[in-house]
Amino acid sequence: MPNNTWRVVDLLDWTSQYFEKNAIPNPRLDAEVLLGHLLGKSRLQLYLDFEMPVFQEHLTPFRELIKKRIDRTPISYLTNRKEFMSLEFYVDERVLIPRPETEQLVETVLTAQTDKPQRLLEIGTGSGVIATILATHQPEWDITATDLSEDALVVAEKNAETHNCAAQIEFLSGDLFEPIKAIDPNGETPFNWIVCNPPYVKKTEWDSLSPDVRNYEPEIALFAGNDGLAVIRRLIAEAPAYLASNGKLSLEIGDTQADTVRTLVNAESAYCSCELIKDYAEKERIVLASVP
Ligand SMILES: C[S@@+](CC[C@H](N)C(=O)[O-])C[C@H]1O[C@@H](n2cnc3c(N)ncnc32)[C@H](O)[C@@H]1O
Repeated sequence: MPNNTWRVVDLLDWTSQYFEKNAIPNPRLDAEVLLGHLLGKSRLQLYLDFEMPVFQEHLTPFRELIKKRIDRTPISYLTNRKEFMSLEFYVDERVLIPRPETEQLVETVLTAQTDKPQRLLEIGTGSGVIATILATHQPEWDITATDLSEDALVVAEKNAETHNCAAQIEFLSGDLFEPIKAIDPNGETPFNWIVCNPPYVKKTEWDSLSPDVRNYEPEIALFAGNDGLAVIRRLIAEAPAYLASNGKLSLEIGDTQADTVRTLVNAESAYCSCELIKDYAEKERIVLASVP
């Protein structure tokens, strides 16, 4: 970036051209989000302050952010923010950046008819977005959220505290149902819901992922064996032992996994129904399996 006097408009123009030259997707948007983040302004405010000069104290860190974006650090890790269902969440490299598709998983739970407070288990909570949104919408529900990654749980708890629902969510670390088995070995307090957005990418797809994803997001949050089904398979097999009567297992799955997952659920005699729900792009992405 040349040394001269920079206004907001000049910085946005220069940065978006530089991002474009370096094949960064959404170059203008990224330039606006990064500059807005640094100056503490919304994108609209940046436009209102187009002529405002930007001084060295901001130019130096802005150069650093540009460099990191050119190295393909995801924008959300640079700003430590991601919006999910209209709430803002803290994110960093310890957790997967929540995706818009996952909102459909939360909607599936929220729109189901229930007449009494539910006990819900979220496995693989990551940044805690699913458990936190459910807690804010259903303050009477009893929610447990787990993750194999202790680092992720630190982020999840921070987000639950920010949204004033930490007291409603019990956070536990461990592999799938292990932490539940440890506190309730006889299954005396089963769950009405088990919800999970599991890792479901095939190990063999590593090369085809964008560098933003494969070089920065936690591997443990993305990959699930050579067929991408290693975690889903275990969840489908093990969940019935932890579900109450009429309980439901709801999972997000990859956009090519619907047929295989339907077959896996139908092969488990513990389930009495299996519904596949489409996302906004008309792909079957949410599984809803019920026990009698
Ligand atoms: C796809 S991310 C989902 C994160 C968050 N729930 C969301 O939807 O944005 C999967 C999460 O599952 C966790 N995970 C992976 N394998 C696990 C296992 N065997 N037991 C518990 N959690 C696991 C990862 O650490 C990661 O946080």
